Parts: sequence; C-alpha cells; structure tokens
Amino acid sequence: MKNDLASIETLRVLGALAHDCTRCVLSESRTNVVFGAGAPDADVMIVGEAPGQQEDEQGVPFVGRSGQLLDRLLGEIDLARGDVYVANVVKCRPPRNRDPLPDEIDACKGYLRRQIELVDPKVVLTLGNFSMKLLLRTTTGITAMRGTAYEWWGRFLVPTFHPAAALRGGDRVTNDIRADLTLVRNIIDGNVEYIDER
Ligand code: URA
Repeated sequence: MKNDLASIETLRVLGALAHDCTRCVLSESRTNVVFGAGAPDADVMIVGEAPGQQEDEQGVPFVGRSGQLLDRLLGEIDLARGDVYVANVVKCRPPRNRDPLPDEIDACKGYLRRQIELVDPKVVLTLGNFSMKLLLRTTTGITAMRGTAYEWWGRFLVPTFHPAAALRGGDRVTNDIRADLTLVRNIIDGNVEYIDER
C-alpha cells in the first residue's frame, strides 16, 4: 500500500505530524507521542515495540529499565545513544503496557517506514517480535529468526530479543543479544559478507 507520508521530506516535519496524530485510539490515552530520538543520519536504527510509562511521560524512547540495559549493551560494541536512531513500531503508549493491536500497528506503520527512509541507516536492529514481524513480514518468532543478518530493502536487518526479555530471561537472552550486537558491529565495520535474502 502507498504510504501517504512518503512525500514528507524531513524527520522534523514527520515528527510534527506524529505529535498531532489521531489515527488510532492510543492518541486518546497518551501523555506524549514518542516519535524517535538520536542521530538523524545514524548508521544503526533501532526499532522497539511501543513506549512504556516512562517513555510516555518523557516523550523519549527507551528511557526506562529496558533502555538502561540497551544502553549498556550498545556500549559493549562501542555505540552510545547519540550514535544511533531509536524509534518504536507504535508511537503512543498502549494502556497498561498491553501489546499493540493490529489496527494500531497498521495506523502507525507509515511513520516508521518514512523514518527508516529518512534516516537511511546501514542496518536496522529490531528488538522483539513486533518490529521484526512487521518489517520482515513474517509470522515466525524471534527465537528462530535471530542470529543472522537479513537483506532488507537494500540494507541489513538484524533481529534480536527485546531487552525486556533479557530482564526477565537472564544471561542466556542477554548473551544472545550480545551476539546479535556483535553482528551489527561487524556490519558497520564492513566485515559481513553473507546475508540471508528476504
Ligand atoms: N520498550 C519499547 O519497545 N520501547 C520503548 O521505547 C520502551 C520500552
């Protein structure tokens, strides 16, 4: 389907449209729209699921516990928050942190699609099932899909677990995220030669 936001030329204008957005019911309960943050020309764009309570209060993605773990793991591959661009599948917090619903994802996906085009990263790192399933158009779960880089619309896409899963699941999940982040580091260093086609 054609993206009606495809003609928007800058992240600033796209963000302003998102801030006034009423395309789904999440607009009725949000405190702030959490559009995205970071370097507008980043090599690495990170896509999470949906804002939580702290993100909703501050209008900034991944500022809660998941975000703190994300920052620590990014640091291990020598990336700081200011080096990457971070956004979510849906820009407004679902009430009580429930999963975003298909019609909410559908209403919001044009923003993400245009964000990716405007940032134009070398690699998209998806966190958890929602962003991976949306972008790779797959119903296969993250456990089976992670551990490799996919070719995706002329760039790399690396799916990994959501940091919230690592907070619940401990070292095994955290180490899988570490391995996927090492892949991201190798891609931005130009050391990845093979990729799975999607
Ligand atoms: N979890 C997400 O997926 N995104 C956020 O911004 C915060 C927590």
